[in-house]
Amino acid sequence: MSSKLIAPSLLAADFANLQRDIEMVNQSEADWFHIDIMDGVFVPNISFGMPVLEAIGRHAKKTLDVHLMIVDPDRYIKTFADLGSNVLTVHYEACPHLHRTLQAIKAEGMKAGVSLNPHTNISLLEDTINDIDLVLIMSVNPGFGGQSFIENTYEKVKQLKALIERKGASTIIEIDGGVTNKNAKALVEAGADVLVAGSYVFKSETPIETIKDLRALANS
Ligand code: DX5
Ligand code: ZN
Repeated sequence: MSSKLIAPSLLAADFANLQRDIEMVNQSEADWFHIDIMDGVFVPNISFGMPVLEAIGRHAKKTLDVHLMIVDPDRYIKTFADLGSNVLTVHYEACPHLHRTLQAIKAEGMKAGVSLNPHTNISLLEDTINDIDLVLIMSVNPGFGGQSFIENTYEKVKQLKALIERKGASTIIEIDGGVTNKNAKALVEAGADVLVAGSYVFKSETPIETIKDLRALANS
């Protein structure tokens, strides 16, 4: 992928001013909206569900990158397609029939993503990498924004990049958790294509500038 992408995570937005924050992202140089769906079972937190995603979809003018931190995601693939999701990412750890799940996501016209928790080894994707459009490497334990970046992520990105090249796959690599101007450049150098940033963007006094600077750093 030539241009490296920035995906602000709406989990860190002000939910009482969600439309304002969505418009900010629309007007910024951000590429995607990252949307975190948590069920309180796969992760120890509940974020928001379908009615909120429907409302986001009415205002968001960029790619909807939906990250499902839920058990049994197969039940909701069609629903998330109908709500306008462009990329649908499920967790490796939540999918006993991952290959089938990937086919079902693509059959609904979406890009198929697979996310790996920090403890999940890259080698487990050996047999599915050619069927995966995007791998999302968790650089924190999923469930909460605002956590510290796990340094071992760089090594995982390099391993994943090597696997993609060895298999001749066209999979892109997304990083999620603790992304800031301190690690963006090194992540891209390791092989990342898309950087998710929640707190770093939405806690900024000047989020449009922060997105612009992060994007410039990722593409420098
Ligand atoms: C965590 C979510 C992330 C989160 C990132 O489970 O998947 O997308 O919003 O937030 P920051 O950038 O604050 O770590
Ligand atoms: Zn996420």
